[in-house]
Amino acid sequence: MSYIDQLRDMERDGPQSVTQRIVDAIAGAIEAGELAAGARLPPTRELAEIAGVNHLTAVRAYRRLRDLGLVQPRVGSGTYVREPRARVAAPPLEGGSPAQPPAGELTDWQRYVLPEVPDSDALDRAHQLTMRGDDDLIQMALAYPPTEMLPARAWAAHTAFVLEELGSEALQYAPVEGVRALREQAARLAGDWERPEDLVVVSGTTQGITIVTRTLVSPGTVVACESPTSPGILDALRAASARVYGVPVDERGLDVEALERLVTRQEVRLVVVQSRNQNPTGAELAPERAERLVALARRHGFFVLDDEVWGGLRFDGAPRKPLREWGPDHVIAAGSMSKVAGGGLRMGWLRASGPVVDQLVHGKRIDDIHSPALLQLAAARYIASGEYADQLETARSQYHKRWEACRAAAARHLDGLACLTDPLGGASAWVTLVRPVDEDRLMAETTRAGVTVIPGSAFAPERPAATQLRLAFSFPPIERIDEGVRRVAQAIKAVATPQREAVTWPVA
Ligand SMILES: Cc1ncc(COP(=O)(O)O)c(C=O)c1O
Repeated sequence: MSYIDQLRDMERDGPQSVTQRIVDAIAGAIEAGELAAGARLPPTRELAEIAGVNHLTAVRAYRRLRDLGLVQPRVGSGTYVREPRARVAAPPLEGGSPAQPPAGELTDWQRYVLPEVPDSDALDRAHQLTMRGDDDLIQMALAYPPTEMLPARAWAAHTAFVLEELGSEALQYAPVEGVRALREQAARLAGDWERPEDLVVVSGTTQGITIVTRTLVSPGTVVACESPTSPGILDALRAASARVYGVPVDERGLDVEALERLVTRQEVRLVVVQSRNQNPTGAELAPERAERLVALARRHGFFVLDDEVWGGLRFDGAPRKPLREWGPDHVIAAGSMSKVAGGGLRMGWLRASGPVVDQLVHGKRIDDIHSPALLQLAAARYIASGEYADQLETARSQYHKRWEACRAAAARHLDGLACLTDPLGGASAWVTLVRPVDEDRLMAETTRAGVTVIPGSAFAPERPAATQLRLAFSFPPIERIDEGVRRVAQAIKAVATPQREAVTWPVA
């Protein structure tokens, strides 16, 4: 069967992504000689039509083939099968160094050994751009806390005190599950009912999510998550080779009815949510849905992982019952100090009940033995002193002010172009364009306009139906938010203007 026929008849079920199936069909055709070196591949739009996928998936497939060294895009002309490259010479046995490939290119053996390049490159790019510190670029891609808000003095005092008091003891290895003083303080923060023994200190929510997924997910395990959700959650699930199903989110959080339909069809083992101030929508799970979610978990026997990194940051400060309190036996919570006291601290925790706690501790040891003892001891003092609670108030009001600036800017610049969610808390709004446009072109235009955002496809496990993006309003100086949103509007208008279709796919 020709590769074109294979693409037409491509299966869609099973753990393998559609992108990977396209890659395999074309790579197979190249290997079998059906596609010779120099052959021109169908343009991405044609490929999308043949395979019955969206344009972005076709672009991704060609990108992956490029990363594998099998094809090469030529600007203005199309995508071509590459000449097979001579193998890199084996290193001489004695002395000398092997031939080096051009910078940024993989040697043949690396291409063989390294896993495929993940599709989450939008986030990698956002981190690189944010770290570059380009003054003219307005950073609305990543939801970093505002730097000037972070409590450096308090941390200087607490770390100095710990070192003074404990001396070299503070630099010795510490318990895998975390130092007792911090477990006590962090448990108290979570609620009077939470026990320190049920808390495992981790290096940020991100590590917590990784440990939970690695503990509960084997290749092919069925996992449900919100759609849209945070790209970090999707990365962790994909890294564990889960079969991921997206469940819609509305202004009352996860659509639990849709989840119920899924769990009656599939053997779901894990459901990942953000029950408060959801990233990217800013929604909150309604109490009746929380109750029903936990009832479903009990009936069908699955764990719920609640990412609480934004949990305490509801703009109005109104207390909300944490999801874990509805069903501690089924809900594992992951949280951190990142959005309140600084992501650089990498200070986070998992809270769980029963035998799974020991498994999480085991996962933590495998990862990095334990989180830095000095910072844990300082964090315990910081919470105990009441400064963390004060800082939480400061953070809430900072995020709220920035949201107000963003909302006003959106009313000014995005009216008629896009709709935004109305977050209850957190640091982002979810933006849906009134008229769909090509996402890659939109991203290229936003960067050209001098603003960074993350494209909607990075937030969903499945192909998005609309053109969406996340607008994070926490990191740029508040007085630049209006200009940032104006630049986003400028980019949308530029892409919405009809243009001659590009013959080749974007490489940037
Ligand atoms: C939903 C969500 N989870 C986790 C993280 C990362 O948190 P941490 O710094 O605690 O790893 C973020 C950061 O933006 C986030 O939005």
